[in-house]
Amino acid sequence: MGIQLRELKEKDIPKVISMFSNLSEERAKVSFVEIASMEEIRNWIKNPNTFVYVAADGDVISAVLRAKRGKGNQSHTCNLTVAVDFNFRGNSIAKELTEFALNILKDKGIKIIRAYIYSNNKTAINMVLSCGFTFAGNIYMNHFDEETGKYIDDLIFHKIL
Ligand SMILES: CC(C)(COP(=O)(O)OP(=O)(O)OC[C@H]1O[C@@H](n2cnc3c(N)ncnc32)[C@H](O)[C@@H]1OP(=O)(O)O)[C@@H](O)C(=O)NCCC(=O)NCCS
Repeated sequence: MGIQLRELKEKDIPKVISMFSNLSEERAKVSFVEIASMEEIRNWIKNPNTFVYVAADGDVISAVLRAKRGKGNQSHTCNLTVAVDFNFRGNSIAKELTEFALNILKDKGIKIIRAYIYSNNKTAINMVLSCGFTFAGNIYMNHFDEETGKYIDDLIFHKIL
């Protein structure tokens, strides 16, 4: 069938939960690992300020991208989170899904998109840089990494749309 980039649909939710559970087992450095309830994802679909796009091949979901719009005087901004299933990485899916989403968000009036990325997540750093994001600052020592016993920064990247 081939990979299609599209909005998240209700029928995708169980597959998305399963993908997030795999990310959690992998201990991926992405906030999706904390999401385990169908209801939470259903609320993303209902919320007009949360935009979710997937890469899908038939019933198989290989990537999820969520953009959360800011409130009030931050409504021109979105925060981006993206993850690709372990088995599908390295095939430009994250890059293509991000570019797909940014075009839609620009049409919706979003002016700036941000991504917060753990400073030890080199793959994700390269990914956002390859999509034209700029390093914009950091939140120093924001997380403690139990595996290494070290503090990790949140790096902030942005892209003007
Ligand atoms: C980060 C992630 C989304 C990348 O997905 P992907 O589909 O494999 O990435 P792509 O194939 O689209 O690659 C895009 C760019 O990322 C970089 N990249 C990809 N895999 C890489 C690797 N193993 N090592 C270093 N850089 C890598 C490259 O710069 C690549 O651009 P290029 O192909 O032009 O060189 C994926 O590794 C993932 O889901 N990780 C766990 C979740 C996560 O950390 N999300 C980020 C939080 S926002």
